[in-house]
Amino acid sequence: MIEIALLGFGTVGRGTYEIIEKRAEEIKRVLNDELKVSKVLVRNKGKYKGQGDIFTDRYDDILNDDNISLVCEMTGDLENSYRYINEALKAKKHVVTSNKAVVSENLSYFTALADENEVNFLYEASVGGSIPIITPLTAQSVINRIYRIRGILNGTSNFILSKMYNENLSYDEVLREAQALGYAEADPYADVEGIDALRKLKILSSIAFSKDIENSEILSEGISSILPVDIEVFKEKGFKIKLVAESFLNEDKYALLVEPVLVKSEDPLYFIEGSNNIVEIFGDNYSSLSFIGEGAGKLPTGNAVVIDIIDALLSNNLKLKFDNLKIKCASKFQGSYYVRTKEKIDESLLAESFERDGFVISRTKMVDRGELKKELRKFRDEDCFIARFEGEDLV
Ligand code: HSE
Repeated sequence: MIEIALLGFGTVGRGTYEIIEKRAEEIKRVLNDELKVSKVLVRNKGKYKGQGDIFTDRYDDILNDDNISLVCEMTGDLENSYRYINEALKAKKHVVTSNKAVVSENLSYFTALADENEVNFLYEASVGGSIPIITPLTAQSVINRIYRIRGILNGTSNFILSKMYNENLSYDEVLREAQALGYAEADPYADVEGIDALRKLKILSSIAFSKDIENSEILSEGISSILPVDIEVFKEKGFKIKLVAESFLNEDKYALLVEPVLVKSEDPLYFIEGSNNIVEIFGDNYSSLSFIGEGAGKLPTGNAVVIDIIDALLSNNLKLKFDNLKIKCASKFQGSYYVRTKEKIDESLLAESFERDGFVISRTKMVDRGELKKELRKFRDEDCFIARFEGEDLV
């Protein structure tokens, strides 16, 4: 029997447990052994009284149990998750995690630590929910020069933007629904302010560019100040609005950006609705590859976790090698932007503007993004919304 432990029993933890139970026979066939969740770490053990004796609130019960060969971290806990993973790898237990916050901060360290301890560290569920992207990207980056990654990486914000667009609902109403469906983080600030997408872009770009990327190198903008008037204008002009994460590698310079983007129907991102995600990767052996699927939720994310558990136990994975290439960040972008404010923005940036419902709606010329952000400092964040028109050269 192969014994494993789950850390956390929230949306992803439950999804993972459910799939392991439901597919016990099939999993046994590929592992040639029975897979048993023998312990689950939870904050409040009392809540699970009468549901078996697998629940514990002491991590040491798991760490010191030599029968447990794999720890599956799904706590969403930003403080303790580093310690859990660090200690598990040092105790020579395989680690699988869905926690993008901890992976994005420690990817090269955990990868090296796992190697050193001859165990596997897998994190497919940390990006794109159900979409297999980490595994194929790791393989692609060995024989390709990946020079661009582009995608919708946050299910919650895509769900909000799609619902506001399709059903004329308000931002608050739809955010509540995304929370109820288990898409949003405990604190949805990370989802709607672009931080969750930034973390995922950082993970993907670090793999593709073989480089430890710093958070400060990624520019990001969220969607929380969007209003129905913005959606109305986008519809009239034939655009959809998406929170897009993009990174580029050009010679020895890279750049990363997360921001709302206006796309037309010829763009594949136009059709990505609800909690779905898309990741496009561009390599020098082909034009592009696209990966589409549910980016959040209990079973979609649990699905990615269970595949990782199987792969980790079978050691069926390509080891990521971090070269830390001598490439530099050059996050300076140009674009033409939609800007909604209460007052006019500086003439020098403007291509056109008009008034709607007491707001000034502007389209900028091709401007330096930094210059535009500087101009918008005179307004409160909640009083303006910006989105880039897709299709112009960015960098
Ligand atoms: N809150 C995340 C999202 C969950 O909405 O995409 C999946 O990482």
